[in-house]
Amino acid sequence: MGAQKPSPAHRAGLAGLLTSPAVVGLATAGLGALAYATLIERNLFTLREATLPVLEPGTPSLKILHISDAHMMPNQRLKARWIAELDRLDPDLVVNTGDNLSHPRAVPTVVQAYDRLLSRPGFFVFGSNDYFGPKPKNPFQYFDKDHKRSGGAPLPWRDMRSAFVERGWVDLTHVRHEVEINGVRIAAAGVDDPHIKRDRYETIGGPPNPLAHLRLGVVHSPEPRVLDRFADDGYDLVLAGHTHGGQLCLPFYGALVTNCELDRSRVKGPSQWGAHMKLHVSAGIGTSPWAPARFCCRPEATLLTLVPVKNPEMGSDHGVSHSEASVG
Ligand SMILES: [Fe+2]
Repeated sequence: MGAQKPSPAHRAGLAGLLTSPAVVGLATAGLGALAYATLIERNLFTLREATLPVLEPGTPSLKILHISDAHMMPNQRLKARWIAELDRLDPDLVVNTGDNLSHPRAVPTVVQAYDRLLSRPGFFVFGSNDYFGPKPKNPFQYFDKDHKRSGGAPLPWRDMRSAFVERGWVDLTHVRHEVEINGVRIAAAGVDDPHIKRDRYETIGGPPNPLAHLRLGVVHSPEPRVLDRFADDGYDLVLAGHTHGGQLCLPFYGALVTNCELDRSRVKGPSQWGAHMKLHVSAGIGTSPWAPARFCCRPEATLLTLVPVKNPEMGSDHGVSHSEASVG
């Protein structure tokens, strides 16, 4: 039996619907939002600032520049220039929570962008996108927490690591490290990326030095199973990235997904994890080249000012403040 041809009246009705003001208006708004997200907001680099009361009483304050998820391509000069300008903030410590690369030839651009920051004390860990190149993905798979994860071609993360370490940054991957910066004694530790199950917390497990003024955990993806381990061991603060703040967010609703097991309310910025520990998640500076768009979620770096807790009896008090500022 052959398919029935639409009648002239049916065709005219369909044409009328497609050219109706409502449909044309919706299509125009959709295309406008897509153009804004890919051409404009993706490049609206923003500095966020937050004050976190996490240090032992009587300790001087400490400025940490938290950068994450640069996803650098070799030709991204605007982003590289903005990152280079962050040095003007004069941070005491730089913490880089991974996903720096998005291309096999991006290491020189990354090292150039971080050049002046590499002269400062720094800690880093890797994210999955430092190990494996980007691949086109169905964006709807992010709504499925159980989707199969697969990486692209291997990336030169060892070259990047060598460049960072040569300049003095400390690779915290499964390492405990103690240092004193401007009178603040820091006991830091990190794990490899739990998003691709490379974390081996037991290698750094156990309480950090109780004499430290700050016990700092560092990880790429803020998976609750790892955050719980840091909290149980008595860490004061964990810094993480990976979520991109949701990347495509809805006005008055926020992120649709976190791309990990973390709840949506903590997708970016500071939050409390358990009774004592604070968490700071960076929304990151870049995007995958296969999803070059941000909406209601600007690319960012964060200047964290760590200050002493107000009431030592209560552990770190819950008060945090944050704002947006410009750099350069
Ligand atoms: Fe990322």
